[in-house]
Amino acid sequence: MEKYTGVHIVSKLIREMSVGILALLAIGGVFSLSAAPTPPIEARNDKFAEQHVDQFTSWLKTKESGPREDALADDPNLVILWAGYPFAKDYNKPRGHYYAVTDVRETLRTAAPKTAEDGPLPMACWSCKSPDVARLINEQGEEGYFKGTWARGGPEVVNQLGCADCHDTASADFAAGKPALVLSRPYTERALQSINQPFAHASRLDQQSMVCSQCHVEYHFAGKDKTVKLPWDQGTDVESMERYYDEIAFSDWVHPLSKTPMLKAQHPEYETWRAGIHGKNNVSCIDCHMPKIQNAAGKVYTDHQIRNPFDSFESTCVNCHTQDKKTLQDIVAERKASIQELKLNVEKQLVHAHYEAKAAWDAGATEQEMKPILQDIRHAQWRWDYAIASHGIHMHAPDIGLKVLGGALNKAADARTKLARLLATKGISHEIVLPDISTKLNAQKALGMDMDKLNREKQEFLQQVVPAWDDQARKAGRLSQ
Ligand code: HEC
Ligand code: HEC
Ligand code: HEC
Ligand code: HEC
Repeated sequence: MEKYTGVHIVSKLIREMSVGILALLAIGGVFSLSAAPTPPIEARNDKFAEQHVDQFTSWLKTKESGPREDALADDPNLVILWAGYPFAKDYNKPRGHYYAVTDVRETLRTAAPKTAEDGPLPMACWSCKSPDVARLINEQGEEGYFKGTWARGGPEVVNQLGCADCHDTASADFAAGKPALVLSRPYTERALQSINQPFAHASRLDQQSMVCSQCHVEYHFAGKDKTVKLPWDQGTDVESMERYYDEIAFSDWVHPLSKTPMLKAQHPEYETWRAGIHGKNNVSCIDCHMPKIQNAAGKVYTDHQIRNPFDSFESTCVNCHTQDKKTLQDIVAERKASIQELKLNVEKQLVHAHYEAKAAWDAGATEQEMKPILQDIRHAQWRWDYAIASHGIHMHAPDIGLKVLGGALNKAADARTKLARLLATKGISHEIVLPDISTKLNAQKALGMDMDKLNREKQEFLQQVVPAWDDQARKAGRLSQ
């Protein structure tokens, strides 16, 4: 029997290890040679125009959605509630997918960066706008994509929201006219896993809604690199997300009047749809927003003109309901009116709460005295925002909308009761009078915002910087026209 000395053992180990390492290297080499490298992603939508005429033509019609509607002009309370946050500058209602890149460039929220290093916003702000995001993540990984400011992405993210956002456009299935749906955003994949709904194991119906959940969801920017994260670790209802945010002590910004560490809800449509009657019955986003229709030759295809389903009533609601269009539209309109009424009531309470909190600070209130009040304001406004930022909630889940707004009203009332008591201890028993916030401009003026300057800078940016971005992209072959 051979006896190993220490040296022998070491040399044998080294030999075996190096054989192992060589084997690993060999396997690695074989893999990198034989496994197909990830094919590049084509972000130019018109490259698919000939291959998929019906889908392309109907997708292009998302261009037909109406002009921008100014949500701040409609409801100036929003300016006060979002004071100190970019949404107080400018916020329009959503329109067709065709305008995603145009609208994010033109909004005052993204301001007027002159160089690739200028702020104020991070790369993450492109995330729900374009198939170029899918392309960049594919090329550079999430780490590479998220690095830097929004302006860095200017010459890269240039194609409007389209094919490669939802499809594996490089696959043979897609070329053959099959859907080949894909999650092009890895952070959505992780979020779906966190609620035990991994995309790969989901049914076709579920996958159809999941592609929308890449963007029509609540998210926040996490960490130093401001990467997108969906706050679903504890669930997707309003309380679970609030708990998630509270536990990591996250805030989007600090409100300049009340000094509250605030949460800004984005647009949790997927979450509220899930909780509503249609979601619970597995009626997918597609059943209403992308119905199957026929082309002139009688071939069935998916209508890619995503829009208000009442505008295609004959191929949407009718598939499952016997009521006529007016009946259903009236029901939805009634629900919208109830939600609108409650929403305005909550806003009134919240606007007062912010100004009363400011008065309390001004009268010498301490951090300790203010803490429970600010927590109520934070929770109230988060609930309000979850409901109102979820576009179409009056259709998707009106019961959830009313419930969440009811919760918001309750929390705002708690805050104001505590504030009244606190103010009394500081010798203030009179009403805290609001400034003139009757219009968007007056509300912005009341906050000392210099809108002329912001608008002037934006115009310069649109005339000088944006055309240069497009030129650069065209020269590099990333943009068709
Ligand atoms: C917002 C997501 C989304 C975008 C953007 C999108 N599609 Fe689709 N597409 C879908 C969904 C959902 C289906 C239907 C899947 C199913 O039936 O299971 C579909 C189906 C298809 C199909 C399969 C045949 C059919 O009509 O059902 C083709 C081909 C297709 N799309 C092409 C395109 C092309 C080309 C573009 C870009 C111009 C595009 N899609 C943009 C979501 C999208
Ligand atoms: C890559 C991100 C992304 C994906 C995926 C996506 N959306 Fe959107 N969606 C947006 C953005 C951004 C807007 C607002 C565009 C604007 O206002 O410029 C929008 C707007 C809309 C609108 C408003 C259209 C109008 O004319 O008012 C509807 C409805 C909509 N999306 C439904 C869907 C559905 C259904 C799906 C899934 C099939 C989907 N979206 C997938 C980002 C996305
Ligand atoms: C049962 C049908 C139905 C389903 C399912 C559905 N929607 Fe809607 N959605 C509608 C209708 C109808 C409207 C417009 C309501 C109105 O007229 O005010 C709407 C409105 C919207 C809007 C707001 C558009 C705007 O301009 O304000 C968005 C965004 C949206 N839906 C996205 C989605 C997403 C994403 C899903 C799936 C997660 C989904 N919807 C599921 C019927 C549906
Ligand atoms: C794929 C089938 C399907 C489509 C398409 C569909 N629905 Fe429904 N709808 C349902 C089901 C299922 C229910 C639940 C019925 C129940 O529980 O009795 C429902 C319930 C409803 C209700 C009553 C639920 C409540 O909240 O009281 C309304 C209103 C409604 N749908 C409106 C619409 C409208 C408007 C459209 C088109 C934009 C539409 N639906 C499209 C399947 C569908």
